[in-house]
Amino acid sequence: MKKKILLLGSKGNLATKIINFYKNNKNVSEKFVLIKSFKKIKNKNDLKKIINVKNLNFIINCIGYTDVEKSEKNQKIAYFANSVIPKWLSELLKKNKKIFVMHFSTDHVYSPKKNIKNREDSFKAINIYSKSKLAGENFIKKINSIILRINFFGKFKKRERESLCYWMKDNLEQNKIIQGYSNIYFSPLHSSTISKYVFDILKNPYRGIYNLGSKNKISKYEYLKILAKGLKLNHSLIKKHSYSNYKAKVKRPKNMGMNINKLMKKFKFTASDIKFEIKKNINDYKK
Ligand SMILES: NC(=O)c1ccc[n+]([C@@H]2O[C@H](COP(=O)([O-])OP(=O)(O)OC[C@H]3O[C@@H](n4cnc5c(N)ncnc54)[C@H](OP(=O)(O)O)[C@@H]3O)[C@@H](O)[C@H]2O)c1
Repeated sequence: MKKKILLLGSKGNLATKIINFYKNNKNVSEKFVLIKSFKKIKNKNDLKKIINVKNLNFIINCIGYTDVEKSEKNQKIAYFANSVIPKWLSELLKKNKKIFVMHFSTDHVYSPKKNIKNREDSFKAINIYSKSKLAGENFIKKINSIILRINFFGKFKKRERESLCYWMKDNLEQNKIIQGYSNIYFSPLHSSTISKYVFDILKNPYRGIYNLGSKNKISKYEYLKILAKGLKLNHSLIKKHSYSNYKAKVKRPKNMGMNINKLMKKFKFTASDIKFEIKKNINDYKK
């Protein structure tokens, strides 16, 4: 029998990619039924009604408030989406061991002083976005769940203009010089790779908090350079720049590179190379 998944926040960027992956992969749609929900949740009862699906096996929670700068101003909204909704979910499912929840958190919860690849237990939140996400994790980890700390890129319909890739393309096409942070590191995956892992995990799920990223980290500057070269844009217009938390509107972690060994070992997955992931990002713009 097919397993039932309820996808919360189904019009969001990641959710849309998960839906595409589901639709385009027969071996996935043969195993799972995907039920989408994008209804605005205003109170616990709204959520209760949404998750009241007969014989439900999984909930994937893609609800979130992800704008790091706006989170500083709109703290209430950020905490609502990133921690109050997870709190209600955890309360509603407290006694329910049958439903397994997949919840997304972020590499933003890492801010180490040393140049290391962050392991799951060494988090430190330095802004409202990451604090609200950590608070959400604390509720979700109490129930039958997996929390995936991620960072991803891709081409999205929603807020495409806000993506790093769009911003770079737009400026370079107009021959404008841009600055890429050479001191901010991350280990993102292409959104389609995350989507594949999502279903692979749900085929044989385990509880816990896991980093899910590429096997190597890269600076934002290097990422932009590779992307620009792949898109045949004038990459010499990208200049190295150092991010300074003293001058910036919002404090940002500089080293978000993740150690993904825990997930790779537990699920017996193979890690993906960052350059391979960026190639997928380049192909998004060639379609
Ligand atoms: N984007 C990234 O690079 C990134 C990096 C690390 C982690 N993550 C995590 O990945 C997850 C998905 O992120 P995303 O980029 O796909 O975010 P997104 O595109 O902003 O999608 C979030 C979705 O949540 C919905 N939502 C917000 N408040 C809601 C509420 N009260 N009731 C119902 N739905 C609500 C939004 O609906 P409306 O648009 O209608 O408000 C939107 O569809 C989040 O947990 C995020 O923290 C994202």
